[in-house]
Amino acid sequence: MPNQLFETADGSHSILSEQFGVSYHSKHGAIQETQHVFINAALRFKALLQKELSILDIGFGTGLNAYMTLIEATHRNLSVDYTGYEAFPISIEQAKALNYPALLNISDTIYPFQLLHECDWEQRIAINNHFSFQKCLQTFDQITDQNRFDMVYFDAFAPNAQPDLWKQPLLEKMYQALKPDGVFVTYCAKGEVKRTLKAVGFQVERLKGPPGKREMTRAIK
Ligand SMILES: C[S@@+](CC[C@H](N)C(=O)[O-])C[C@H]1O[C@@H](n2cnc3c(N)ncnc32)[C@H](O)[C@@H]1O
Repeated sequence: MPNQLFETADGSHSILSEQFGVSYHSKHGAIQETQHVFINAALRFKALLQKELSILDIGFGTGLNAYMTLIEATHRNLSVDYTGYEAFPISIEQAKALNYPALLNISDTIYPFQLLHECDWEQRIAINNHFSFQKCLQTFDQITDQNRFDMVYFDAFAPNAQPDLWKQPLLEKMYQALKPDGVFVTYCAKGEVKRTLKAVGFQVERLKGPPGKREMTRAIK
């Protein structure tokens, strides 16, 4: 059975991963979750201090985080350099079925959602003057960047589905990949994950979660 597309509570689509047995977003609202966790708690927070931002997306998935960052960066006159890692991409047909451009009522000419899926892997492209984009067809453990990113959007499948992604080796890589004062955000608020983040050197904050979730986590290098 292929990955199933379904509608979340705010009307936006998500996908149920056949491979990992979990959904790509909260059933309470995919767009609301991305807005709350990644745009509000990371991008807007960091943009208070600087207009040039480099972002590491773990992982690219449906492209919703990348797409909403493109829109926000353009509206706020930011300059964002965005890198998304993804080892198991969805098909182009599945990406075309997602309702994000329609629901956000956004012109596909100005904000080309499909281009994020159709562009070549490992090639950086300028989507517009505010957003440069590169996708890497690689597993997260291949990341070796040091002091390169201002933010990490840590949007891996939940610890019960992929426990190894929430352990010290990968979280340490995220710490190394961030610049000093870099921001790591995730929808996850599990105690063990917060303890590991502290152990690798982050200062950890609990924030109010998106709809349907009491808390989320933001950590600063
Ligand atoms: C929760 S989804 C990401 C949702 C995404 N940010 C979005 O906006 O749709 C997690 C993603 O991580 C990818 N993934 C899982 N394990 C991976 C690994 N070891 N390396 C790279 N990508 C992985 C999955 O294929 C999936 O696309």
